This record gives sequence, C-alpha cells and structure tokens, in this order.
Amino acid sequence: MNYLLIKHLHMTAAGLSILFFVVRAFWSVQGSTLLQNRLVKTLPHVIDTVLLLAGMTLAAMIGPEQPWILVKIIALIAYIGVGTIAIKRGKTAKTRAIAAIIAVAIFVYIVGVAMTKSALSWWA
Ligand code: HEM
Repeated sequence: MNYLLIKHLHMTAAGLSILFFVVRAFWSVQGSTLLQNRLVKTLPHVIDTVLLLAGMTLAAMIGPEQPWILVKIIALIAYIGVGTIAIKRGKTAKTRAIAAIIAVAIFVYIVGVAMTKSALSWWA
C-alpha cells in the first residue's frame, strides 16, 4: 500500500482518537451513563488499533531504528495508561479530570514528536 495513504490513515485515526477521548473523558468526569454504551466502549479500541497498526507499518517502511519512533511508542503507552485513569480507574471526578488533562498534554507532545521527528517535540 501507498505510504501517503497509510500516513493519512494514521493521522485521521490520531485525530479521531483524541476527539473520542475528550468526549469520553468529559462523560467520565460528569459520571454519564453514556460511557456504558457498547459503541462508545468499542469504537475507541478500533480507532486506536488502526492508529497503532498504521504507525507501525509506516515505521517499518521508513526504518524503525529512529529514536523519535521509540519515543512515540513509549508516549503512546503513557497516553493509554493515563487515559484509562481518566475514563475508568480514577476514583473521584477530580482525579479523572486531572488524568484527562495529562493525557491530552501527552497527546499534544506526541503530535510535536511526529511533526519535528525529535523527542524534544515542540521545543525542538
Ligand atoms: C497517539 C499516538 C500518535 C499520534 C498522535 C501520531 C501522530 C502523527 C502525525 C500527526 C503524523 C504526521 C506528522 C507529519 O508529517 O507532520 C505522524 C506520522 C508518523 N507516525 Fe505517528 N502518531 C502516533 C503514534 C505513532 C506510533 C506508535 C508510531 C510507530 C509505531 C508512529 C509512527 C509514525 C511514522 C513512521 C510517521 C511518518 C512520518 C513521516 O513520514 O513524515 N506514530 N504521526
């Protein structure tokens, strides 16, 4: 498959991922029952799988032995980990809200890493 096509798929999945995350984090802080909806529960996993698979395919195509790619993988794990506190594991609304803000900050950092191809991200 064409590199640019996969890159656009990757970027679209990234956009949808943060969009869905912010909506679910909002519902989580509010204690909304919408979070229990089957589609709301499964769709983010599908999007995040596409995001990761497309990213790994791109990495394989351009040679994965680049520090910024490793940094992106580690930061993605952090985004998912902190994200589950925001949506599931955080006991109070305040904890979930703080985790949501940190997860969004990690996401913004990752986009900076993607665009500058440096672990320094927006500060490169
Ligand atoms: C939340 C996670 C991620 C986000 C938000 C994200 C975002 C982006 C964005 C916006 C681009 C386009 C950058 C540009 O050209 O300006 C990009 C490209 C790319 N990403 Fe990701 N990415 C994520 C995770 C990953 C992961 C986990 C990998 C590797 C396993 C990866 C590998 C790549 C590669 C190889 C490119 C192509 C760079 C290029 O050809 O210019 N990404 N990513």
